[in-house]
Amino acid sequence: MTIYLDNAATSFPKPESVYRAMDEFARTKMANPGRSGHTMALASEALLDDGRHRLNQMFRGKSPDRFIFTLNCTDSLNMAFKGTLQPGDHVITSDIEHNSINRPLRALELAGVITLTRVNADSGGTIDPEDIRKALTSQTKMVAITHASNVLGTVQPVADVGRICRENNVLFLVDAAQTAGVLPVDVQAMKIDLLAFPGHKGLFGPTGTGVLYVEPNVKIKAWREGGTGGDSTTETQPQVWPYFLEGGTPNTLGISGMIAGIKWIEEYGMKKIYDHEIELTQYLWSKLESIPGIHILGHRDFTRRVGTLSFFSENVPAPDLGVSLDASVQIATRPGLHCAPFAHRASHTFPVGTIRVSPGPFNTKEQIDLLVEAVEGITSI
Ligand SMILES: Cc1ncc(COP(=O)(O)O)c(C=O)c1O
Repeated sequence: MTIYLDNAATSFPKPESVYRAMDEFARTKMANPGRSGHTMALASEALLDDGRHRLNQMFRGKSPDRFIFTLNCTDSLNMAFKGTLQPGDHVITSDIEHNSINRPLRALELAGVITLTRVNADSGGTIDPEDIRKALTSQTKMVAITHASNVLGTVQPVADVGRICRENNVLFLVDAAQTAGVLPVDVQAMKIDLLAFPGHKGLFGPTGTGVLYVEPNVKIKAWREGGTGGDSTTETQPQVWPYFLEGGTPNTLGISGMIAGIKWIEEYGMKKIYDHEIELTQYLWSKLESIPGIHILGHRDFTRRVGTLSFFSENVPAPDLGVSLDASVQIATRPGLHCAPFAHRASHTFPVGTIRVSPGPFNTKEQIDLLVEAVEGITSI
């Protein structure tokens, strides 16, 4: 049985209630929501409504209909960038971003649509909000940063950055891929205009699920136009939210799993999940540091971290170590660059990368002990 320590990529296993909810939904309600108006279609639509209400409560949104179901966090980010940015806009981002922020922005920059500034995080992996303030220009339309680095696990001061953005009338986009379901995110208190997150990581939904929250004052174009199941009379996308941004049949089966995941978090407790993941990460750090030749990335203040830890060995390159862990002891970690090349350049771990370990609520200290024992065995020469 694999010891799965790659929850920052996608969570596994899911809580039992997620598997049960999806099975039940697939067998009884998997009709096209809203479209036909028959009993099954209405039941499917009601499930989506319930999900939007739960999301609105969890993320303190202004209205459930501003939560758009997407395919993953990348889909949400593309929808946000391509729906709001216009020729001549300036965008500020950072050097610890995932490629789902880096690549669409760089492509828009190369196409001559936007200008881009990338502020650097400090050596511990934290962005200084004052650097963002200094980078603002009269053309700045958006600041786009992650809530927590998927390489370093460091949590960013999003509330401070949000305040700066609101004072300067700049859109604030947060990528909550590593925090949704783990840390409280309050879009109103943090002054977040656009919040993108996956359903398949901390919310325990299946792959193929994601969400974009759009603050009601944000002007956004529909990136994916098509059928919405309700008003078919208009020649262009109906302006009614959430359907305005939800052309096409949604992944109702996946969303049913994500909603079951959210219910599980509500009952189990987000704080309990966070505390457990931090405890395991702290324990891992204390064990790894006694192994000769092991280096751990990012600052050590666990009050400003999520349960993700990256390290490398002087003796065995990360890709080889990752393969050995999988092949010899069936431990799943994530070797490489984690789709975040700038973060690795800044950490001097480019292009070989690191091993990333990201426990979830079902991992144990005994599993961390097995990992440490294996790393010690493979890297001692
Ligand atoms: C910080 C961050 N942003 C965005 C993404 C992209 O998420 P998805 O795979 O759901 O598109 C990830 C995935 O690992 C991530 O860690």
